[in-house]
Formats: sequence, structure tokens, C-alpha cells
Amino acid sequence: MNQSSPLLWVNASLFDGLNGAAEPMAVAVKEGRIAWLKPMSELKADDKSGFECIDVKGALMTPGLIDCHTHLVFGGNRSGEFEARLEGASYEEIARAGGGIISTVRATRAACEDELFESAKPRLQALMADGVTTVEIKSGYGLDLENELKMLRVARRLGRELPVRVVTTLLGAHALPPEYKNDADGYISLVCSKMIPAAAAEGLADAVDVFCENIAFSVEQCERVYAAAKAHGLAIKGHTEQLSNLGGSAAAARAGALSVDHIEYLDEAGVKALAEAGTVATLLPGAFFILRETKVPPIELLRRYQVPMALATDANPGTSPIFSLKLMLNMACTLFRLTPIEALRGVTAHGAQALGLQAEVGRIAPGLQADFCLWDTNNPAELAYSVGLPRLTHRVVAGMVADK
Ligand code: NIG
Ligand code: FE
Repeated sequence: MNQSSPLLWVNASLFDGLNGAAEPMAVAVKEGRIAWLKPMSELKADDKSGFECIDVKGALMTPGLIDCHTHLVFGGNRSGEFEARLEGASYEEIARAGGGIISTVRATRAACEDELFESAKPRLQALMADGVTTVEIKSGYGLDLENELKMLRVARRLGRELPVRVVTTLLGAHALPPEYKNDADGYISLVCSKMIPAAAAEGLADAVDVFCENIAFSVEQCERVYAAAKAHGLAIKGHTEQLSNLGGSAAAARAGALSVDHIEYLDEAGVKALAEAGTVATLLPGAFFILRETKVPPIELLRRYQVPMALATDANPGTSPIFSLKLMLNMACTLFRLTPIEALRGVTAHGAQALGLQAEVGRIAPGLQADFCLWDTNNPAELAYSVGLPRLTHRVVAGMVADK
């Protein structure tokens, strides 16, 4: 197959990123983009001229999956903390005792760029093997200028060297580094006056994120970060309402955030603020599962206010050492009671919206980049229903069949 020639994929059972098609579809790809699509019953002999045809025989075609929230670049691991939590220690207790995020900061600072790249690569490849074609990667384990930029450089390099689109996010305001003990405001000044300008000037970050929580930063501190991000033309996101309700989601929405993520403790006023601002609610069932959380995000309210729900792995060494977006489809349904179609929208159309990329990826629609997956089933619900199957048979990036 000559991958650079125009391709016509025929007889696809299509989930286009928002809905399933009622009948088998033909999808035309030219120069890496979706040119057009139409039902097989309307396909004329003329439509095929100039295309090489590939008959997928009823296989399910979905957009390439989008993991819109990960922390894939980090040093070391936290299996010891996992064991401590099994013995009864809480995530907050471990964090307050200098473990948790700060222990990964020590390991990440000690690692050079090549080491971070080599350890992140198999994590990213695991996501790609699940059909991921776009992934967001955050910094947040450097917590000083040099190490935050180091993490972002590694993330950019992953995107250059592997067939996947990488979007990067500066998460300088993730935790308070030991050098700034008792001076959170001073650290936020460093984030605003040094990290954000440098990341923006070097083109290393597409967005800026914060951790708004009692064990991290206050709403006011997060608002300072948002203002600096916007002044440098960067999008904003937030880890909000994960462990308590501080009003961080509403503050992020007021500042124009693309998404707020976790949101187990979000209340109705917060949901309303998201709806008004057009901010996406990103659900992270992996962290909920690993922390054995019991407070479920307000799914019914999000539906009622028509807030788009994205779904991501939150892949990280502490709260979600999970490198499977497909598993998240199942967990979103079993743990949060999403429907399989809502879950699928979360890793396609709504995942793209959480990254501000909805005009580029996340749907199979004319003009968008031709990123899609073919699966060994014809039923989209099976992607959420079963763990380990159905098999991904093709992962296509910008029209080219890519390595899984
Ligand atoms: O998304 N909530 C804060 N940050 C990460 C956890 C990072 C860690 O524990 O290393 C999260 O869950
Ligand atoms: Fe996270």
C-alpha cells in the first residue's frame, strides 16, 4: 500500500467522535486529512477514482484516541508508597510527610534528559498500543526553572521521535519544593516571573496547569498563575476539586480554562461555572481507583448542564500508574456510570476540546487530520465493555498507518 496516495477506507462501522453511524461508511483520506465521508449505499463508482481502496469489512473505525491529561515524564517510581497506602497511609499524609509528589521530584531532578526520555518512551508506547494518537504531557516534577524546562524538552522530543502528537503543559504549580518551604507565594512568583516566560519564549509549553488543593496551592495563588499564563499567550488548565471543594474549578473557568480535571468534589455552582465558560470537565477514574476514592464526580449535574466530559489516564507514578486509556473507558463506565458512548466521546471529540484541538483532531470529519483506529469489532460499546480486547488492528496518524 502506497501510504502517500489518496486512500479510500470502505465498509467501516464508524464512531465519528460524537456518534455512531447508522450504516457502513466510506472515508476518503488525502494528504493526511479526511477529505470526505459518505454511507456505502451512496458511494458511486466515480467516487473511487484516484483512490486506492481498502476494504475494512465492517471493522469499527474511531478517531485516534486522545489522552488529554498525563504526567508521563518522571524519574523513579512510587511502588513503596503504593505499599504504604495499602497499609493504611493516605495520599495526603504521605504528601505532608515529604513523600508523594516530592519524592518523584527528587528522582526527576537527579535524572538527565536522556534517562527521562528512555523511561518515558515505553510508557508512551503503551498508550499508543491502545490507540492513542494525541497525548498531553505535563511537567511538574522539576519545580525549579531548569528542571521544569528539562521535563518539557523531553516531552517535546517524545513527540518528535514517535508517531504521536504531543501537547505539553507547564505544571510548575504542582507542589511546593523544599527550597520554598513556608513561602508558597514566593514560589508562585517564581512560576509566574521565570518559568512561564521561559517556557513560552522557548516554545516548550502549549498550556499551563496548577494543582489547586489544601496540600498544594490556594485559589488566589492559582489565579496569579492563570494571569501570567494568559499574558504569555498560553492556554490554562487546572487540577481542581480532587480532594476537597475549594472553588478552584469555578476560578479556572472564569479565567477561561480549557479544562478542569479530577473534579470529584465539584458542586452545582462549579458545574454551572463550567457550562457558562465552555470549560471541559476531565474525568480521571484511574486516580479515583488507585486512591480508592469514594466520592464520585457529579456526572448527573455535568449532563444536566451539558458540560462536555473528557476522559484521561492521568498516567503518573503516584495516583495513577496506569498506561492504558482503553482501561479508562471501562472504569469511567463501571466507576462513574458513564455510558460507553459518553466515555468514547471523552477520549475523542471531548478530549480534543480539553486541549483546544477540536478543529484538528478528535473526530472523523472533513478537514480534520486523518488520525484514526481500526478495531477488531463492529460495536463501539465493546471498547468500554471489555478489558484487554477488542484488538487494535490499525493506528493511523495523519493518513499513514503508524507503528502501534
Ligand atoms: O493528577 N493531583 C495532583 N497531581 C497528580 C498526582 C501526581 C503524583 O502523585 O505524583 C494527579 O493525580
Ligand atoms: Fe494529574
